[in-house]
Amino acid sequence: MDHRFSVVPTAPPDAILGLTDAFNADTNPNKMNLSVGVYKDATGQTPVLQSVKAAEQKLLSNEKTKGYLSIGGLQDYCDHVRTLAFGDQVPAERVAVLQTPGGTGALRVAADFLKTQLPGAKVWIPTPTWDNHRAIFDAALLPNDGYRYLAADRTSLDLDAMVADLREKASPGDTVLLHGCCHNPTGIDPTAEQWKVIADVIAERRLLPLIDFAYQGFGDGLEADAVGLRTVMDRVDEAMVCTSFSKNFGLYSERVGAVSLVAAQASEAAAANSQLKRMVRTNYSNPPRHGGAIVATILSDPELTAIWKSELDTMRNRITQLRQQFVETMKTTGAGHDFSFLLPQKGMFSYSGLTPMQVDELKQKYGIYIVGSGRINVAGMSESNMQSLCDAVASVLEG
Ligand SMILES: Cc1ncc(COP(=O)(O)O)c(C=O)c1O
Repeated sequence: MDHRFSVVPTAPPDAILGLTDAFNADTNPNKMNLSVGVYKDATGQTPVLQSVKAAEQKLLSNEKTKGYLSIGGLQDYCDHVRTLAFGDQVPAERVAVLQTPGGTGALRVAADFLKTQLPGAKVWIPTPTWDNHRAIFDAALLPNDGYRYLAADRTSLDLDAMVADLREKASPGDTVLLHGCCHNPTGIDPTAEQWKVIADVIAERRLLPLIDFAYQGFGDGLEADAVGLRTVMDRVDEAMVCTSFSKNFGLYSERVGAVSLVAAQASEAAAANSQLKRMVRTNYSNPPRHGGAIVATILSDPELTAIWKSELDTMRNRITQLRQQFVETMKTTGAGHDFSFLLPQKGMFSYSGLTPMQVDELKQKYGIYIVGSGRINVAGMSESNMQSLCDAVASVLEG
């Protein structure tokens, strides 16, 4: 008998998660995984934050039901999402917020909404960007194209090129995806002044900003990292924001995110909310409770909020220190390659400038796993492996 599934070809492994499979199978005792975007502490663990543990304990004693959440999720969670992103910049009645399974879920709901509700919608995404952006928009059959972002030196933002593309290639009504902070994969963010220029172009061209906000607090701090988003919101009255709490609460596997839509009028926000709910209903029906309940518990309790903020500071400061330590240690290897351009970069990731061949050599010879583009997860480095990492990088640079 014919096997109907015999026609199904094997899909290529995910560019980043596939590397983790290869890493897990590697028997090199000194192997290092600098590919996947997960924070690690000095012992190499991705810890559960104390604020999260305390919130979970509260939930364990107080939780009354495992009944379904509503389609849009927990109301107090959604209120906190709005406040973290917008502060008091936008009146609550103009913002529709839905709890989603992670930032990925938020992006997919946003994509389905744009595709079905805005005729002719098209999204402009930075080049380069997180690989999954294009994949999500393609899956939602939402047309998308790239705008220039990274300069030819691969160490800075090409603002002129970005503005030119948004002005000349994007049409009024198109959507433009912006990384709110800690651009993935480059770590290169616009400065406050550059955000003003970007916001002006968006307003002038009547583009719809879609802000991917997955690293709030990992760059310069919770409020400082919202400067770009708020600068844009100063200039427009319609936007979408996709929040992820995977990184800043260390809640990766709990799948905690949100999609927010800002409308010009409360009645429009309510109508959009009803459509966003339809997208959710036919996708995953309603979000998982636990992660959202943890975040809501922390942010509703001033003591837990203070603990969380200090844990977030610790994570951010550690990443900054590791980036500095890498730059300093590379100087001592004698490779003659100055990595100081990494210092102003924000968040977990840095574009190292290593070529795909050098990346491959690091993997084969030293068991060091970096994404083919040369993107390094700085948070995957540690004080104890810094010297051996830098020696290996120096050897492939000299090779
Ligand atoms: C830029 C960006 N957006 C969204 C996400 C999705 O986050 P989540 O794991 O919450 O789905 C990530 C995760 O790596 C990311 O880097």
